[in-house]
Amino acid sequence: MAKFPNSPSFTGVFEPIRIEGDVTDLDIEGEVPADLDGAFFRVQPDPKHPPLLGDDIAFNGDGMIAQFRFKDGRVDFKQRYVRTDKFNLEEKAGRALFGAYRNPLTDDPSVKGRYRGTANTNAFFHGGYLFGLKEDSPAVAMDANSLETFGYHDFDGQITSPTFTAHPKIDPETGDMCCFSYASKGLLTRDMVYWEITPEGKKTREVAFEIPYYAMMHDFGLTRDYALFHVVPITSSWERLQAGLPHFGFDTTMPVHLVVLPRGGDAKDIKMFTAPNLFASHVMNAFNDGTKIYFDTPEAKNNMFPFFPDIHGAPFNGPESASHLTRWTVDMDSNSGEFESRERLSEFVGEFPRMDERYNTEAYRHGWMLGMGMGPGSRASLGHVDTSTGQAKVWQAGANRALQEPCFIPKSKDAPEGEGYIVQIQQHQDDGKSDLLLFDAQHVDEGPMAAIHVPLRMRFGLHGNWVPGEELAKARRKTTQAVAA
Ligand SMILES: [Fe+2]
Repeated sequence: MAKFPNSPSFTGVFEPIRIEGDVTDLDIEGEVPADLDGAFFRVQPDPKHPPLLGDDIAFNGDGMIAQFRFKDGRVDFKQRYVRTDKFNLEEKAGRALFGAYRNPLTDDPSVKGRYRGTANTNAFFHGGYLFGLKEDSPAVAMDANSLETFGYHDFDGQITSPTFTAHPKIDPETGDMCCFSYASKGLLTRDMVYWEITPEGKKTREVAFEIPYYAMMHDFGLTRDYALFHVVPITSSWERLQAGLPHFGFDTTMPVHLVVLPRGGDAKDIKMFTAPNLFASHVMNAFNDGTKIYFDTPEAKNNMFPFFPDIHGAPFNGPESASHLTRWTVDMDSNSGEFESRERLSEFVGEFPRMDERYNTEAYRHGWMLGMGMGPGSRASLGHVDTSTGQAKVWQAGANRALQEPCFIPKSKDAPEGEGYIVQIQQHQDDGKSDLLLFDAQHVDEGPMAAIHVPLRMRFGLHGNWVPGEELAKARRKTTQAVAA
C-alpha cells in the first residue's frame, strides 16, 4: 500500500499525479490557429512510489512526459512515464529502490551500479527520437508519437559516457545536436565530453576535457564557432554524500569560470575566463563576432536553488536569488583570463529563458522568460524581453495560478525572428486543474489567445519543446500503428 509522506515535497501542488492516459480533443477557450501542426512536449517529475528514505526533494520524481498534439485547430493530450531502468526496476519490486537525489550511497543494495536517472528534466527531439533526459544518466529514447520508451540510447555505441546532458542544443545551420556529458568518468569527477551528432545519428565531433572543479554543469552556450561551459560553484563532494547532505550545495567563496572550447578545435585549444562568485544556471543564447563571444544567462547575486543549500550554512537569501538576463562578454584574443564585461540586459526578474531557436548561435533580439514572483502576494508572469532595448512586455497570471517554462513556436518555417506563439503550462493551485496557454509571442502582455484546458492536475514541470508535424510524421516508431492522417 503506497503511503506518500505528508511533507512539503509531496502535498498540495507537489502531490504526485501518477496518471498516464489520453484525452482527445481538449476543451479550448479562445482560438487555436488551424494551421498550427505539431506537438508540444514537456516533462514533470512525478514520483511513482513513496520515497525510499521517507522524504525527498520535489524534483527527484520519475519523468512523466506530456504531449499536446496540435492539428486542425484542435489539441489532443497524452501523458506517459518514461520507462527508465529505475522506473522498471521499481515497478517490478512494487516500491522505491533508489534513495536520495544523486546519492547512490542511499540506494537499496539490489540496484547498486544501475543507472539512477529519472529522465525528468527535458523532453527533446532529434534524429527521429524523442529523448527523455536527466543529466546523471544516458539519454532515454522514446517514440514521439506514442510516447513508448525504446530505452537507454548510446547512438549505436558511439557515446559511451554514463551521463548525457538534459540541455542539448540544435545548430540551426546543420541540424546537428550539440551536447555534452559531465561527471563523465563517474560521480563527482571533473571530466566532461562535448559531442556533435548529425540528424542521421552520426557522431562528428568528440572532445574530452576537464573543468577546474566539480559543479552542476546543467546547461551550456553554443555559438557558430564555440561551445561555452559556465562553471558555477553548485558543487559537491564524497563527504557530503557520506554525511547524507543534499548532493549539491552552493559555495559563495568560489569563483565562476567560462570554459570556451573552439568547435573546430581540441581540448588544448580551450581558454578559460574567470569572474567573481555569482549564480547562473540556464542559458538564453550565445553568439560570437570573430573572437568576441557573447553569452546571455539569467544571473543572480546568490543561490537560486533553496533545495541545494549554502555549503557554509548561510540561510537562503530570497532577494539575492532574483535573476536578470545578463550578457557576459569574453574575447578569445585576450590573455587577461577575465571577462570583458557583464552587462544586465533587462530589469525583468525571471528564469527559464527561451528564444526563437532558429536563431540559436546567432545574434538575436527576442527572448521569453518565466517571471519570478518576488515577495508576498506576487503573481507568476511571462515576460518577453527585447534584448536590443531592454524593454519587457509582461503578462501576469491570476491569483492562485502558477506558470511554467515558456516555449516558442515559429509561425512558419521562414517567419521573421520572434513571430509565432508561446505555449506555457498554467497550474491552478485552488481547483486542481491546469491549462496550456497559447500566446501571440509578440503580444504576451495582451494575455493568452487560447487556454487549452487539461482536465487533470499537472505537477510542476521542467523543460519542453515544440516538434513540427512534418518531423513527427518521420519520427521513429516503436510499434507499427496507424498514423493519424
Ligand atoms: Fe534546466
